[in-house]
Amino acid sequence: MTTTSEDTTRRDFLFYATAGAGTVAAGAAVWPLVDQMNPSADVRALATISVDISGLPPGTQLTVKWRGKPVFIRHRTEAEIAQARSDTVSALPDTDARNPNLLDDTTANDANRSIPGHEAFLVMIGVCTHLGCVPLGDGAGDFGGWFCPCHGSHYDTAGRIRKGPAPENLHIPPLLLSEDMVLTLG
Ligand code: FES
Repeated sequence: MTTTSEDTTRRDFLFYATAGAGTVAAGAAVWPLVDQMNPSADVRALATISVDISGLPPGTQLTVKWRGKPVFIRHRTEAEIAQARSDTVSALPDTDARNPNLLDDTTANDANRSIPGHEAFLVMIGVCTHLGCVPLGDGAGDFGGWFCPCHGSHYDTAGRIRKGPAPENLHIPPLLLSEDMVLTLG
């Protein structure tokens, strides 16, 4: 059977439960905003999770669930990094890095969006900043990053909004990456 783009996008929604509870496949669905604003007790209990990303090959994305939301962990290719670094930040719709690991109002250049010392890795909350859909990845959209099909928002290879109604870059969660490549969120 021929692999279609729909198959590809469905694979993009494989959520890897970090507690080993299995995987769930879902289509392009609106991530319930109410859950983000009013997390239940069990969600709050998962405030911090750790993920070993040492085996994540370049050009692939792992999606984990953290505090009830998908988090994209992308190991970018050299071409993706080069593309992200070639853009002029002042020309972007949102010039804020949206990175709570840095000072407020840090500009959205690629270094401020990726993990220091491991710039190939980009970690973002996978919730469209328009109305909360889960964007498609694996080079989707006009800028080779992520694409939200709900209303047509295009994000680049640094997860920055480039076209469409989304007002902000995809947000980066609080994170730490250890020397042995274990990523801690929260
Ligand atoms: S929710 Fe993503 S474009 Fe509207």
